[in-house]
Amino acid sequence: MIDIDQFLEHEKEIINRALINNLPAVEHSVVNEAMRYSLNAGGKRLRPILTIAAAKTLGSEDESIIEVACALEYIHTYSLIHDDLPAMDDSKLRRGKPTCHCVYDDAVAILAGDGLLTLAFETVAKYGSRAGYEKKAIGILAELTDAAGVNGMIGGQTLDLAAEGNNLSLDEIDKISLMKTGVLLRAAVVCGGIAADASESQLKALSAFALNIGSAFQVVDDLLDYESTSEEMGKPAGADQVRAKATYPAVLGLAGARKRAEALYEQALTALDDLGRPTEILREIAKKLVYRTK
Ligand code: IPE
Ligand code: IPE
Ligand code: MG
Ligand code: MG
Ligand code: MG
Repeated sequence: MIDIDQFLEHEKEIINRALINNLPAVEHSVVNEAMRYSLNAGGKRLRPILTIAAAKTLGSEDESIIEVACALEYIHTYSLIHDDLPAMDDSKLRRGKPTCHCVYDDAVAILAGDGLLTLAFETVAKYGSRAGYEKKAIGILAELTDAAGVNGMIGGQTLDLAAEGNNLSLDEIDKISLMKTGVLLRAAVVCGGIAADASESQLKALSAFALNIGSAFQVVDDLLDYESTSEEMGKPAGADQVRAKATYPAVLGLAGARKRAEALYEQALTALDDLGRPTEILREIAKKLVYRTK
């Protein structure tokens, strides 16, 4: 049996080192410093861990997967910097530290986000510059741009902001949460699959698994806003209620939202049955994610 905590700790260390090593060498740049600040602030590194775990699950030992994993975390960290800006969720605490725009200023935070997003694609280009990796890199780029773009995360963030103060139906909340959060988590897993030469049917199983845990991830994020503390999460508790966000607990109640997260978790596990590989790592990560406290 795998020791999941040890696995996560080990992968996190490798990811943290690579995230900094892949930063461009720019001297005396405040934007570069801000990018480094937000990356170093912490974070669970769930998306890059999922990329690596998916590749390992398919039997790949190729270490260049770390570049793909870093790309996922660069996109995610950029999204958090922008999400916290005064024009968006207006948050002062992230990953247990003052948010990027509070330490620097709004302009630097916007540019640091832009810098990280661009760096994500530069890092995938580096991955794809190896002989024989070109096709995989193109597939990965297609996944990433789809997930991060206006039909994915940016679209979801747009809908999320527009929904503040409105009573939404469950279907509408599902759509927002899938777009703003679920599809990037799906891309994290699918990109790991592409890098490991997954078959079409394996990609389908990975995708179904990841969409379910991606949806569960946002349900739990909404629940923690009610149930956890700022100290534990490293971001302000109760912030969704202050901004009258359209969230799962607002529509389903706390018990209903918890039940939904657990149902999505069960569906995610079922999807793994079609993978035809040992799935313990992915199952354990899914469990961690659904029962997390931060
Ligand atoms: C928070 O993501 C934002 C959402 C998409 C809900 P995480 O909870 O993964 O944040 P970090 O990376 O651990 O800080
Ligand atoms: C953020 O959702 C989703 C993205 C950053 C794309 P939230 O606004 O709920 O995330 P937190 O709660 O601030 O981490
Ligand atoms: Mg938000
Ligand atoms: Mg937010
Ligand atoms: Mg939230």
